[in-house]
Amino acid sequence: MDIKKVISEMTLEEKCSLLSGQDFWHTKAVERLGVPAVMVSDGPHGLRKQDLKGDHLGINDSIKAVCLPTACATAASFDRDMLYQLGEAIGDACQHEEVAVNLGPAVNIKRSPLCGRNFEYFSEDPYLAAELSTSQILGTQSRNVGVSVKHFAANSQEHRRMSSDSVVDERTLREIYYPAFESAVKKGKAWTVMCSYNRLNGEFASQHRGLLTDLLRGEWGFDGYVVSDWGAVSDRVKGVHAGLDLEMPSSGGSNDLRVVQAVRDGRLDEKDVDLAVERILTVHQRYLDNKKPDTVWDKEAQHQLARKMAAECMVLLKNEDSVLPLQQGETVAVIGKFAKTPRFQGGGSSHINCFKVESLLDALEGVPGITYAQGYDIQGEEPDESLIAQAVDAASKAGKAVIVAGLPDSFESEGYDRTHMRMPRCQVELIQRVAAVNPNTIVVLYNGSPVEMPWIGQVKAVVEGYLGGQAVGGATKDVLFGDVNPCGRLPESFPLKLEHNPSYLSYGGEGNTAVYNEGVFVGYRYYDKKAMDVLFPFGHGLSYTTFAYSNLRLSADSIQDTDALTVQVDVTNTGSLAGKEVVQLYVGDVESSVFRPVRELKGFEKIALEPGQTKTVTFTLSKRAFAYWNVQLSDWHVETGLFRIEIGRSSRDIVLSADVTVESTATVPMEVSVNSIFMDLRKNPKAMAVLEPLMRAANAGTSDSDSDVANEAITADMAEAMMRYSPLRSAVSFSDGKLTYDQLQAIVDQINNG
Ligand code: BGC
Repeated sequence: MDIKKVISEMTLEEKCSLLSGQDFWHTKAVERLGVPAVMVSDGPHGLRKQDLKGDHLGINDSIKAVCLPTACATAASFDRDMLYQLGEAIGDACQHEEVAVNLGPAVNIKRSPLCGRNFEYFSEDPYLAAELSTSQILGTQSRNVGVSVKHFAANSQEHRRMSSDSVVDERTLREIYYPAFESAVKKGKAWTVMCSYNRLNGEFASQHRGLLTDLLRGEWGFDGYVVSDWGAVSDRVKGVHAGLDLEMPSSGGSNDLRVVQAVRDGRLDEKDVDLAVERILTVHQRYLDNKKPDTVWDKEAQHQLARKMAAECMVLLKNEDSVLPLQQGETVAVIGKFAKTPRFQGGGSSHINCFKVESLLDALEGVPGITYAQGYDIQGEEPDESLIAQAVDAASKAGKAVIVAGLPDSFESEGYDRTHMRMPRCQVELIQRVAAVNPNTIVVLYNGSPVEMPWIGQVKAVVEGYLGGQAVGGATKDVLFGDVNPCGRLPESFPLKLEHNPSYLSYGGEGNTAVYNEGVFVGYRYYDKKAMDVLFPFGHGLSYTTFAYSNLRLSADSIQDTDALTVQVDVTNTGSLAGKEVVQLYVGDVESSVFRPVRELKGFEKIALEPGQTKTVTFTLSKRAFAYWNVQLSDWHVETGLFRIEIGRSSRDIVLSADVTVESTATVPMEVSVNSIFMDLRKNPKAMAVLEPLMRAANAGTSDSDSDVANEAITADMAEAMMRYSPLRSAVSFSDGKLTYDQLQAIVDQINNG
């Protein structure tokens, strides 16, 4: 279809009609010109295609589909290839079901453990979130189905989600909240971006031209269309001008009419409308030209894939005395409602209608030595004495006890935030009572975000299973029995308690204003800087085997910021089982004039090693790995100096490190004024070239005799500090009339213009 030609043949009303949905999930058609409607559907952990009554809260049913592990789990895989495969699986489902765009992945940063939608998001770390979500995007789009990377931007809370204003400084946005979107656009070539409900620094994202046009298209080169989150439009006319192309769901046509009117009144340029229509149709045409409804959607095969993936995502947090893996034939009391009816996905728009669900008990069928007790109920928090007594009895008769616990649906969901980080009281009590009678107690957790673990010292092992999708039961069995060697790593820090979280003092905001006070110090960036104890650090995860690191080498000791640095390290499996290690690379700026985290993740690789095998892992670091966002330059900037390259098992378990000097090729322009202080002037060669001769001349004119008078009140340090912090203008005040303000201003002009 010649899209430009078709648009030129449309009436203004027809064009404006295309700027919003026909219903919950379809765009509009213009039949007389052969423009078809297309369907979009949620994601992001499978396909939620509603063919009857639509809603965006997961209330009404959707077609039977496959629930793959959710993003909180897949992030723990640290496995780009796996995310690509997950994307492909979703793409196949969409092709089969004639869905043009899958509404995901959701890549917002986990600012607080409290966010109700953390289970849908990847990480507290922007690099990890960017790498993994971009792989998912590439996977889905390899099937010629679009994604809608969401929710753009700074949408890290559910509280007042449609009205809150995220107040975030530019550096923090660039370093923390934007990178996953930036990568989705630049590397992932995302077909569509979904703007968020919230305001960003005072303006609704849905009408934020700085965000949707200047940044997204102008700087990052986005060439797809922007769709509103469902119901995120406030001022549709402003939105069209800002770059919001498609409003979803439908406004019953009323906003379309407003746009028509605005064009007629001259408040909106018709070119803005044409552009939006062109972008929408271009993306949809890409799908229509490659539509393959005969694509096989093998749900059973995807269920097996979901099981394999979920196992690869599980994080072994603790394993004292190698209590895991379980051995065939040993007696095991399996305890907990979630062992029978697992929690494996979150509530809301991502809710999948699974064609089947596999629990741990299902997977254990036929395994000898297993007993079961429910232990707790998921309605309410009150401990149930009789359920606990049955569990304690079963545990006391078994060699080991496996408690499957976590957060019930009501504890975390789209639409509202958590108010605390605790598990239900009945589960805490159960764990403590079972652990008291069975010294080999193992806890498996199904939850979408961190929980406090007051019982951690009483149990031998903990497996963090997150929300692992419909095959989570089989995956849990595979990890517990060692058929899969655990290889997940925490994509977020588990603080000891909620009060330790950096956003604790301001999370949720006051009224509609949510100030992101902690700036770039999100997650481990904060805990590491403050050297605080955490329950489990970012990147942590154990294996049934062991790994040794050696031979860290850098391609150079010193580079310019335009050069790439190659980092290599050897990793050996020193245990007796095959396993996978996640090799993590962190970079820290050793001395910086701006506040920076101690270390930031800038590379990771997941490698499989047979016992005794060694592999060399290679990372390539470019400027961005060393840079921070400099607001004055409005660009990424590397300050000349020493940087530490660290290889770690987690942000708290650094095994090897080496330093490199990076030299900046950019100069930060520094406007000199009479108020510039000497400390800054000394770092400015241009200023010193002018000032130094003057200072020498001035010193030559002062007599030495005064300095013979010892003044004990003025130490050398103090004198130096006085000088350091003195502004240029003090030269006038203390020159005894020899230097006038006009003369000083002339010197300043000479520096600035010279
Ligand atoms: C959610 C989106 C979702 C949309 C459609 C909204 O409420 O925030 O993530 O894609 O509904 O269901």
